[in-house]
Amino acid sequence: MGAGPCNVHPRVIQAMSASLLGHMDPDFVQVLDDVSSMLRLVFKTENAVTWPISGTGTAGMEAALVNVLEPGDTIVIGHNGYFAGRLSEIASRTGANVVHAPHEPGDAVDPDRIRAELQRHAKVKAVAVVHAETSTGVLTPIPALAEAAHEAGALLIVDAVTSLGGVELRVDDWGIDVCYSGTQKCLACPPGLSPITFSERAVSVLESRAAPVQSFYLDMTQLRSYFAMRAYHHTAPITMIYGLREGLRILLEEGVEQRWARHSRSARALWAGVEAIGLDMFAPEERRLPSLAAVRIPGGVDAGAVRKRLLDEHGIEISSGLANLADSIWRVGLMGYNATLANVFRFLSALEDALLAQGFELPAGASLAAAQKSLRHAD
Ligand SMILES: Cc1ncc(COP(=O)(O)O)c(C=O)c1O
Repeated sequence: MGAGPCNVHPRVIQAMSASLLGHMDPDFVQVLDDVSSMLRLVFKTENAVTWPISGTGTAGMEAALVNVLEPGDTIVIGHNGYFAGRLSEIASRTGANVVHAPHEPGDAVDPDRIRAELQRHAKVKAVAVVHAETSTGVLTPIPALAEAAHEAGALLIVDAVTSLGGVELRVDDWGIDVCYSGTQKCLACPPGLSPITFSERAVSVLESRAAPVQSFYLDMTQLRSYFAMRAYHHTAPITMIYGLREGLRILLEEGVEQRWARHSRSARALWAGVEAIGLDMFAPEERRLPSLAAVRIPGGVDAGAVRKRLLDEHGIEISSGLANLADSIWRVGLMGYNATLANVFRFLSALEDALLAQGFELPAGASLAAAQKSLRHAD
C-alpha cells in the first residue's frame, strides 16, 4: 500500500507465466492489437496512436516530451510537486525553453497561472501537468487547462501515471493531446510498461518536426512502424504485454467507471479513518487524489518506526514522503487490486496499533468506526 508498485492481481501473474511468442508472431501481434484497443477504452480515446511504451512511467514521460519538443521550443510546466520537477528536467534536456508555473506543494495546478505564462511567452509549443501528483496526493482538474493550452495554440501533455484505471480520466472529452501512464499503479500490473496516447493534433506536430527525435528508442514515428506496420524496431517485452492484457481485461470486466467509484469509496473511508484519530491529510478534500493518500506525520512520532511496525508486524508497506516532504508525510496507496475496503480496515487498525506503540494518544477503534460511518453516508 505504498506509492507503487502495488500488489498485482493473481490473474496477471498467471498470464505472465505463459510461454513466449516471438514479437513478430501473428498471434503476438493480435495480443498487441488487443492491448491497444483496451487501452483506448481505459484512456477514453479514439486515438489511433495508443500503445504501451517499453519502460516504466518515466519512459512514457520522456517519450511525450522528446517527441513533441525540439531545441528552441517553449514549454510551460505546472509545477506542483516532485514529478512536475522531473517533467522540467527532461524537457530542459531536449534544448527547449522551460517555463515554470510554480505552485505550493498541496495545490492543484491553477489554469489562471498557466494562462498568465501563456500570455507572457510567445508561441508556446506545449503545456505539461501531472494529473495525479503522487508526491503530494493532489489531483489537478484537466479540462480548464486544456482550454487554456488550446487557446494559445499549445498541446496539452498530461502525466496520468497514478490516475489511469483508478481515477476519472477522459482523454478525448477533456482535450488532452498526449497522455501517458505506468502499469504498476491503478492498472495493477508489474512495473515495466508505459501506456501512451497521442491525439491527431499531437501526431501532426510530430510529423512536421524539423529535426528527428533525438531518442531512437522512444521515437514514436519509428515505433509506429512496429505497432502499425509490423516492422521490427525493438524486441517487445512479450511477458509484460501478456500481463498488461490480463490487467486490462480485469479492469474492463469490472467497468472503467465502476473502478473509479471503487477507488473513490475506499479512499473516502481511509481519509475519514485517519482524521478520526487526530491525523491530518496533506491536501484539502476538494483536491485530494483517491489513489494516494498523503497523511501528515503527527508531531512526536517516529515516522520510520511506524512504517517499520506496519511492515514487520502487519505486512503492510507504505511510503515515506519524497524529497523535501520526506519527514512530513506518509504516502498510502489505494491502487488497482489494493483499492479495497478490506485493505482500508486492515491498514487503519494496523496504523492505530503502530501509533499506540509509539505512545501516541488516540481513541482506539475510532478510525474503524469513522470509516464505517463514511460508507453508510456514501451508500
Ligand atoms: C506521477 C508520476 N509520474 C511519473 C512517475 C515515474 O514513473 P516510474 O517510476 O514508473 O518510471 C511516477 C512514479 O511514481 C509518478 O508517480
